[in-house]
Amino acid sequence: MTEVQLDLTVNGRRHRVSVPAHHSLLDVLRDELELTGTKTNCLEAECGVCTVVVDGKSVASCTMLAAQCQGREVVTIEGLQDGGDLHPLQEAFVEHGAVQCGYCIPGMIMTAKAFLDENPRPTREAVREAIAGTLCRCTGYQKIVDAIMAASQRLVQQGERP
Ligand code: FES
Ligand code: FES
Repeated sequence: MTEVQLDLTVNGRRHRVSVPAHHSLLDVLRDELELTGTKTNCLEAECGVCTVVVDGKSVASCTMLAAQCQGREVVTIEGLQDGGDLHPLQEAFVEHGAVQCGYCIPGMIMTAKAFLDENPRPTREAVREAIAGTLCRCTGYQKIVDAIMAASQRLVQQGERP
């Protein structure tokens, strides 16, 4: 089995790992770096639970090779918290009761994070479209959209503060 040695930057920390060349980013995050907040399910880029942000874009980590992330910036759900403070998206999901079983939530929040970074003042329809690739079996999506809209307002207000 061919191994590759990779330098990955995950949540601002550099890691050197040696992994089989065919291993996915999801494999490395969960099995090598023990970042199990990123969930696993379909392994076919169909459900969205494994979504992380790579160089500012949301990606399905189950179908991205770890080797494709050499030298790139990866952010997972564990990297959103700022010290002891939850990210506004995480706060809004809690406040709006947008979490039920929770399995889809890390992927949902990372999808929303990348989306809001590029679209700070979205419409509800745009939010619905942005999260369409992340499946939730529990919530009916309404509260998730409410939470993302609330987080977008909070992030804009934070950005406007002197
Ligand atoms: S586990 Fe990656 S999209 Fe479903
Ligand atoms: S909260 Fe259960 S799958 Fe989304």
